[in-house]
Amino acid sequence: MMRVNMTAGRATNLRCVNDRLRGRRHSSPMDHILLTYYSRTGNTERVAEEIATACHATVEKLQETRRRSGFLAYLRSGREAWKKIAAPIQPTKEDPTHFDVVALGTPVWAGHLASPMRTYVEAHARKSRQVAFFCTQGGAGADKVFRDMAALCGTEPVATLVVTEKELKTGAYRDRLALFAKALSDAANVEEPADLLRSA
Ligand SMILES: Cc1cc2nc3c(=O)[nH]c(=O)nc-3n(C[C@H](O)[C@H](O)[C@H](O)COP(=O)(O)O)c2cc1C
Repeated sequence: MMRVNMTAGRATNLRCVNDRLRGRRHSSPMDHILLTYYSRTGNTERVAEEIATACHATVEKLQETRRRSGFLAYLRSGREAWKKIAAPIQPTKEDPTHFDVVALGTPVWAGHLASPMRTYVEAHARKSRQVAFFCTQGGAGADKVFRDMAALCGTEPVATLVVTEKELKTGAYRDRLALFAKALSDAANVEEPADLLRSA
């Protein structure tokens, strides 16, 4: 699944001009794309790392304040996701407003986004002008997760990526992952200030 919407590009370029003129522009490619993810068992982490490598993103891994292992924690996870309970997370390091695009990654839990990602999205995502979503899942639920995340963010994603557990084993997601990473790079594209002012 891949949706790409580049209509926000001009607004972002203007913001880049303003940021640069105020001395706030990012100095390295690592500052354009923030990739924030939660992963309980490593699947979403693997996808996040591959995306980050492909588009030179800064990575923020969400850490919980409470351990989540064992069968009871599995049940708790499903219940939290289903009931839309936001699970406590540790303070994050990166300020998403410093980035041109923020990619949010979560596993699908009981057809919903994982509760630690919900906490982050509720606290931060409305600050981001451009967002992208990716998730891993056993087989179903991603569409609803992305709809919920778009509603929480107050904006549609510039790109989405779904990877199933089976695809993680076969590698069948790699072409789509490359397209997703390219969409992030395109959304975060920054030209020189003089060029931007000419095209504004
Ligand atoms: C509590 C719980 C509920 C889940 N519910 C779903 C689901 O509704 N649909 C689905 O396709 N996969 C579901 N899964 C499977 C996970 O989405 C899948 O294993 C995912 O890749 C895990 O990501 P992670 O390793 O990054 O934690 C669920 C997993 C857990 C732990």
